[in-house]
Amino acid sequence: MQRLEVLGANKLKGQINISGSKNASLPILAATLLSKNKITLKNLPKVKDIETMINLLQSLGSITKFTKQSLVIDNSKQKKVFASYNLVKTMRAGILVLGPLLAKFGNAKVSLPGGCAIGTRPVDIHLKALSKLGVKFKILNGYVYANAPKGLIGTNISFSKISVGATENLIIAACFAKGKTILKNCAIEPEIKDLVNFLLKTGCKIKWIGKRSIKIFGVKQIKEISYSVMFDRIEAGTYLIAAALTEGKLQIKNVIPKIIKTEIDILKKIGAKIKVNHDKINIVGNKKIKNLEIKTAPYPGFPTDLQAQIMVLLCKANKNSIIKEDIFENRFMHVAELNRMGAQILTKGNKAVVQGNINFVPAELMATDLRASVSLVLAALTAKGKSVINRIYHLDRGYENLEKKLKKVGAKIRRVN
Ligand code: EPZ
Repeated sequence: MQRLEVLGANKLKGQINISGSKNASLPILAATLLSKNKITLKNLPKVKDIETMINLLQSLGSITKFTKQSLVIDNSKQKKVFASYNLVKTMRAGILVLGPLLAKFGNAKVSLPGGCAIGTRPVDIHLKALSKLGVKFKILNGYVYANAPKGLIGTNISFSKISVGATENLIIAACFAKGKTILKNCAIEPEIKDLVNFLLKTGCKIKWIGKRSIKIFGVKQIKEISYSVMFDRIEAGTYLIAAALTEGKLQIKNVIPKIIKTEIDILKKIGAKIKVNHDKINIVGNKKIKNLEIKTAPYPGFPTDLQAQIMVLLCKANKNSIIKEDIFENRFMHVAELNRMGAQILTKGNKAVVQGNINFVPAELMATDLRASVSLVLAALTAKGKSVINRIYHLDRGYENLEKKLKKVGAKIRRVN
C-alpha cells in the first residue's frame, strides 16, 4: 500500500498547471455512449476515476485508444448494456452510463453505486426522473434493470432536489428522447455546462431557458467530434488554499477565474491577496488569516468538494470559524485526523466549529475519501516535521500528479511504496 511522506513546514512558491476536470470528464465520457462512431476527447486528467470510467466503457464494448494528449473512443461495435458492480462500486459516477444506454438501446442493467465514506449516495432522483421519460425500473440484487419499451418520450420534469448526477443523466437521456423535454431545478455546476457544450458540438439540440431550466429536443444520432474538457476547478481551489495556508506565492495556470469567483472572493475575505487575468490566478498568502462562517451549497455557492480544504485553512484563522456541510450527510471524515494533528474541531450534525490559532503537528494519518485526503496533505505542509498519509489511493482518484505539482513549488513530499 503506497503512502505519502510530507516534511513541513514550508511556503509554496511558483507556478502550478491545472489539469482537466475529473467531474466534467466523467459525464462527458458517459455521454460518448450516445455515439455509434468515433469521439475524441482531450485534456482528460490522468486520475484513477477516469481510468475506471474508461474501463467501464470498454466493458460495454467501446474501443478506446490514447494518442498523445487525446483519447479516441470508437463505438462502432458498442452493443452491451450491462455495467457491472466491480467497476461501479469504486466510482459512483458509473451510474451516469444509465441515461446514455437507455437513450441509445432503450434498456440497461447497471449496478447501483452503493455508498461511500461521505454518504449513502442514493440515485432515487435519477430513477424518478428517468421514469418520467417512460423508463420502467426493477431493482434486483443491487442492480437497476431499466427498460423503455416505447423508447424515451420527452416531457416536463422538475427535480425534487438539486442533483449534479441526476441532471447529467437526464440531459444525456433527453438528447435522444422523442420530442421536447424541459428539465427544471437543474444543478448548474460548470461541469454540467461543459457537458452541454460537448453535446451541442455533437449536434444535440439543447438550450438553457432559465437559471436552472433547460430545454432539449431529441435527435436520432450524434456527430463525430473532438472536444477538450474544462479545467478542474476543485484542483485549482485546492492549490489556492494551499498558497493561503502556507503564506506562499503561487501562480495557478490554465483556469477560467470567473468560474471560481466564489472561492476567490472567500479567500480574499480570509486575507489572501489575489490578482486574476485571462487564464491565470496569482495568489499571495497573508500571515493574518481571518475567521469566517461558511456553508456549502450547490453552484454558484461554496463547493462541498472544497469544504475539507478550507477547514484546514480556518484552523489557522485568528478566531473560531463555523462550517456547515449542507450537501452530504457525512462529509466530516477528515475532522478526526485533523484533530490528531492538533486541530480543535467540534462537529455536531452537519455543523463544525473550527477553533483558530492552531499549529498543526506532524502525525501518521489515514485518508478516507478523495477530498479529505488532500486536506491532510495541506495540514501536513504546515506542520513542522514529517507526516505520513496512508491509503492515498483515495487521492489518486482525483488529483493528477499531486506530489509532482507540489514538489515543483517547494513542498518536501514523496510517495513511498
Ligand atoms: C457530484 O456528485 C460530484 N461527483 C461530487 O464530487 C460533488 O461533491 C457533488 O456532485 C456535489 O457537488 C461527480 O461529479 C462525479 P449530487 P453527485 O447528486 O452527482 C443527494 C468529488 O469529490 N442525492 O449533486 O453524486 C446526495 O446524496 C465528488 O469529486 C439524492 O438524495 O452529487 C447528496 O446528498 C464527491 N438522490 C446530494 O443529493 C439522488 O438521486 C447532492 O448529490 C442523487 C443525489
